[in-house]
Amino acid sequence: MAKSSRAIIDSFDLEPGSLLARNYRVLSLLGSGWEGEVYKVIEKNTGIERAAKLFFPHRNIRNRTSNLYARKLHNLYRCPIVIQYHAEEEVIIDSKPVTVLISEFVDGELLSDFLRRQPGKRLSPFQAVHLLYVLISGVESIHNEHEYHGDLHPENIIVARYGLNFELKLLDLFHTKSLKRENTQDDICSAIRIFYEALGGAKWYSKQPPDIKKICCGLRSSIILKKFPRASVLRGYLETMQWE
Ligand SMILES: Nc1ncnc2c1ncn2[C@@H]1O[C@H](COP(=O)(O)OP(=O)(O)O)[C@@H](O)[C@H]1O
Ligand SMILES: [Mg+2]
Repeated sequence: MAKSSRAIIDSFDLEPGSLLARNYRVLSLLGSGWEGEVYKVIEKNTGIERAAKLFFPHRNIRNRTSNLYARKLHNLYRCPIVIQYHAEEEVIIDSKPVTVLISEFVDGELLSDFLRRQPGKRLSPFQAVHLLYVLISGVESIHNEHEYHGDLHPENIIVARYGLNFELKLLDLFHTKSLKRENTQDDICSAIRIFYEALGGAKWYSKQPPDIKKICCGLRSSIILKKFPRASVLRGYLETMQWE
């Protein structure tokens, strides 16, 4: 980390084995994105694994981004589909204060990687309906807490497969300036888009069975939201759908 001072920090490159905020030993880089980098760390005394998200200072002015994210995660502590938030720390990197959010470490695979691994890189309609069911039930639990995800896509979903079931964890929730109603609607449309992509996307859409097209609605938001105005409506629809 002994780099000459940079005007903008766009990577942290933490060394495995180094100590973060006195308490967490760095194990490996889990991923990086627009807001920062996420490392797998181990709590020094307890040996418990955690995820540490370090925010790029220029993307986190006055801690606005990290505070909104932490509060959102905290508000959703009752939702098992959302990663659990633990603590906020500050570290100094290149003489600049950097905010770190410590949360639950999720052992699994990104949904995007999982889908790429499937035969033909796509799920069968039956499996995709199972995936959508777990996803929209989780989204419903978020909306029930008067919150929204705000950035649902396959790189923000970690998946583990158990028999028929999918176990999903959602991360990287985003605060937008739009109205709450628009945000919850956006979550519903994003869930259906993920379903559509999981089925092979545009390439396979015309060959999908009618049951699938009735859910995707050609990805037209106005039609989707008329049919499924709330996450609970889509969840109920999947629970009672009649297969043709
Ligand atoms: N709690 C976690 N457990 C395991 N992996 C995680 C965790 N949080 C983030 N990751 C990994 O790090 C990547 C980037 O994290 P994310 O919070 O989405 O940051 P960004 O806002 O930069 O996209 C994710 O796509 C995922 O691969
Ligand atoms: Mg992300």
